[in-house]
Amino acid sequence: MRPLTYLVAVSQDGFIAGPDGQTDEFEQGPAIIEHIAEHFPETLPTAARQHLGIDDKPRRFDTVIMGGSTYQLALDQGAKSPYGHLDRQVVFSRHLTSGFARDVELHSDNPIDVVRELKAGDGLGVWLCGGGVIAGAVLDEIDELVLKRQPLVLGSGRPLFAGRYHPRRFELHDRQQVDAVTVERYRRTAG
Ligand SMILES: NC(=O)c1ccc[n+]([C@@H]2O[C@H](COP(=O)([O-])OP(=O)(O)OC[C@H]3O[C@@H](n4cnc5c(N)ncnc54)[C@H](OP(=O)(O)O)[C@@H]3O)[C@@H](O)[C@H]2O)c1
Repeated sequence: MRPLTYLVAVSQDGFIAGPDGQTDEFEQGPAIIEHIAEHFPETLPTAARQHLGIDDKPRRFDTVIMGGSTYQLALDQGAKSPYGHLDRQVVFSRHLTSGFARDVELHSDNPIDVVRELKAGDGLGVWLCGGGVIAGAVLDEIDELVLKRQPLVLGSGRPLFAGRYHPRRFELHDRQQVDAVTVERYRRTAG
């Protein structure tokens, strides 16, 4: 079974972006980029990888999944295939009908069914890039959380998980301080 990892930057008050999708307050300094390049290089956008000279084969993830709002941001920045170095880019949207790249798979089906099918297939891990709406929809299938916790309170914004009250327990198995950012890794507890 391929694990599903939700790896995302999050504020102290649990937001992954401001109310209008702002992420400019999140720390993107050289130390955290270096840390991600070393430990999770697949999660850097293709353009950033090219800029940094990273062209190694995926070791941890070969598939990314994301919500329509997260993908829309990439489209707005002119990145139709933001993670083109991965084997599969899966986007959940009921409204997008055009403007996406040919190597992006659009799904309007129930995300949990799609994720279960992906996890049951062959290959490396599956990375959930965001956002909180899709994370809430597939919470039952998330095996690992990697939280790039920012020393920042936003006050309001897009939550790490959106959706119904649905407690699920994870245990901390690693924590690293990378300049001002704390990178925390959690695994889902059994049962
Ligand atoms: N901090 C970070 O590291 C990080 C990482 C990623 C994203 N973000 C931020 O997160 C924000 C977006 O997150 P979000 O939680 O608002 O949205 P999201 O999860 O990215 O996307 C929500 C969208 O997914 C689609 N969707 C939802 N349920 C669906 C279903 N059952 N079937 C098919 N499609 C479905 C809909 O798209 P349609 O409306 O197109 O149908 C919905 O509007 C952005 O502002 C981005 O900046 C931050």
